[in-house]
Amino acid sequence: MAARLTVSRELPTDLERDRLPQHVAVIMDGNGRWAQKRGLPRVMGHRRGVDVLKDLVYCCRDWGVGAVTAYAFSTENWKRPMMEVNFLMALIERVLRRELDEMMAEQIRIRFVGDLSGLPQSLQDEAARAMERTSHNGAVDFAIATNYGGRQEIVHACRAIAERVQRGELRPDQVDEGVFQQHLYTCDRVDPDLLIRTSGEMRVSNFLLWQMAYAELYVTETFWPDFNREEFHRALLAYQQRDRRYGKISAPPTPAAPSGSP
Ligand code: IPE
Ligand code: IPE
Ligand code: MG
Repeated sequence: MAARLTVSRELPTDLERDRLPQHVAVIMDGNGRWAQKRGLPRVMGHRRGVDVLKDLVYCCRDWGVGAVTAYAFSTENWKRPMMEVNFLMALIERVLRRELDEMMAEQIRIRFVGDLSGLPQSLQDEAARAMERTSHNGAVDFAIATNYGGRQEIVHACRAIAERVQRGELRPDQVDEGVFQQHLYTCDRVDPDLLIRTSGEMRVSNFLLWQMAYAELYVTETFWPDFNREEFHRALLAYQQRDRRYGKISAPPTPAAPSGSP
């Protein structure tokens, strides 16, 4: 086990360092099914999932991926049984408190994206403390999407822009994609290059709707608590085989057409 971990601390040799995604987003799905398959309560899957997330963040640091965003709790997850919701809130808070010193030592910057005002006050306080303490860390920019919904984020941005227009700070014709992006929770981060979803579901479940415009999607059947560095390696290999065209054609660039030609 120790030997395997030592090996996987290095970037696998079949990955190209200069073509790694700058930002990886993960929908950590399948915790409940993982636990139920073992006859355990669903929440045991969440508990195990925390260790997996922690290792993913450290793996990103080891291999040179600079930013990670993990979907921890969606705006729709409030519809779950109260006991599970309470467990998740307490878990996030406890893990933050427990891991903060190590995250500091490992130079991980912690952020939260989502509507923090809807979270229990003690979690809001813990989140604020973690964000402030780690704000100068530069190894991995790690965002935890909590009480996050892509639609909610877009509405939040629209409202902030409308208020600025009303105050006369902006004209409606100045609102473009750049201005809009500046009002998102992720305003100072690059968009995800790669989205990984575990447990085989082929949907985005209201995650980073704006930011995902050109992300490469990778879905694995593995439940989140079984995700590991080998799985991440496979996702990165798949990513490096993609042809990211951004609407252009795949052929190599041709010499620029003379100006004025159609
Ligand atoms: C993802 O696992 C974690 C959260 C949504 C908090 P699930 O709890 O959705 O697990 P499944 O999808 O029901 O198996
Ligand atoms: C998405 O998983 C949210 C998180 C991982 C936090 P869900 O389990 O809530 O998504 P659906 O219900 O399958 O779309
Ligand atoms: Mg799920």
